[in-house]
Amino acid sequence: MNICIIGTGYVGLVTGTVFAELGNDAVCVDKVEEKIEKLNKNEMPIYEPGLEELVTRNRKEGRLTFTTDLKSAVQGAEIIFICVNTPTSDNGDSNLSYVKAAAEEIGQSMNGYKIIVNKSTVPVGTGDMVYDIVSQHYNNSHDFDVVSNPEFLREGSAVDDALNPDRIIIGAPTKQVAFRLLELYSSLEAPMIITDVYSAEIIKYASNAFLSTKISFINAIANLCEKVGADVEDVAKGIGRDPRIGQAFLNPGLGFGGSCFPKDIKSLVYTSQKFGYDFELLKNVLEINEERVAHFFGMIKSRFPNLEGKTFAVLGLSFKPNTDDMREAKSIEIIKKLTAEKAVVRVFDPVAMPAAKKLIDSVTFCASAYEACSSADAMVLITEWREFKQLNLEKIKNSMKTAVIFDGRNIYDPSRKEKMGFEYYSVGRGKWPKSS
Ligand code: UDX
Repeated sequence: MNICIIGTGYVGLVTGTVFAELGNDAVCVDKVEEKIEKLNKNEMPIYEPGLEELVTRNRKEGRLTFTTDLKSAVQGAEIIFICVNTPTSDNGDSNLSYVKAAAEEIGQSMNGYKIIVNKSTVPVGTGDMVYDIVSQHYNNSHDFDVVSNPEFLREGSAVDDALNPDRIIIGAPTKQVAFRLLELYSSLEAPMIITDVYSAEIIKYASNAFLSTKISFINAIANLCEKVGADVEDVAKGIGRDPRIGQAFLNPGLGFGGSCFPKDIKSLVYTSQKFGYDFELLKNVLEINEERVAHFFGMIKSRFPNLEGKTFAVLGLSFKPNTDDMREAKSIEIIKKLTAEKAVVRVFDPVAMPAAKKLIDSVTFCASAYEACSSADAMVLITEWREFKQLNLEKIKNSMKTAVIFDGRNIYDPSRKEKMGFEYYSVGRGKWPKSS
């Protein structure tokens, strides 16, 4: 099938590439010329495992092209995916200006029947909005349909998630339109759920909101565990064995960041309010999440009441492992708190340092975790990259000024670290530091 993808961010680029990989002709459009130029040289705008290889292969085989020419891309396609970003302001209101602009241009470019698909995460009712805008700009205004087909891919495993989705949701005005879109996915083995457009739009938000609720729930339990001296990891294991609860997304720590959860939860609260429902539960989820950094920093302060001149090795900068994405990364907040109190901060991240350099100053960027920890008063682990689990901690201990670890993601075993001679502090596992 001939498809056109508007927007080459995470969702757009991965979607276009994966559809090309499945044998379709995919044309990806972006307004940013520099991005398109780079993509045409197989240079990726983001770090995403497996993506570069797939883009290179599908370009070479002629199924994947990149352009700034939206009009001809739309005219040559039967299915058009809108994958532009939808930033959320602090009050949760989604900025749909990019979606509106895309709909307008699609309307102006239409040359026959098309299925227009909202893949961006957009508030309920956006399908109607896109329909209205396209109609205003297209004379033959009934010759198209608008569908919601939300994307659930995670950064760091986006290609794999897109090739192996756990479900495909199609919110369409009629079954016939839904089936046409399903043909695109026919080679994937995944349950397909057909709904009306509004329900599909809500499914995406409800999924992210539910997962965020799990994270805040386990973080609240972690707080209780610290108070009573229990171990939140054991509690998570104990409750996660119940298949109705499940083990995923019960990792306590610094809470959720990234480009999706914080903005999507705010947006769902805002949209609910708009329709007359006060979503208190999700407000609490956000509050618990926002307290995580202050709580963790409190732990550091209990051990080091005066941070001035103390050296901290911050390991991990991206909002989660396997990505260089720094959006809503907890590292930024923690580093700000440390440097505000005149601590010396040395940082290392396996992938995100170039991105972090644009956002963080007053720190020393180190070439390795070992270099960052050398002569440090404490290690502060923020992102659970696999390589941090495999560090030679004996070597690190011997190079530190004081062997103290603050583990914001519970990646190490407390008793082992203590046996090694570390003062080890983590989240929701009883012991809080006493000031030295
Ligand atoms: C998320 C959704 O998972 C994905 O389906 C949707 O399409 C986009 O948003 P992503 O933001 O890439 O994906 O990351 P995810 O792996 O879900 O993690 C989100 C945040 O939650 C990260 O900051 C992560 O560190 C945190 N998290 C996750 C926890 O704190 N604990 C957990 O148990 C799981």
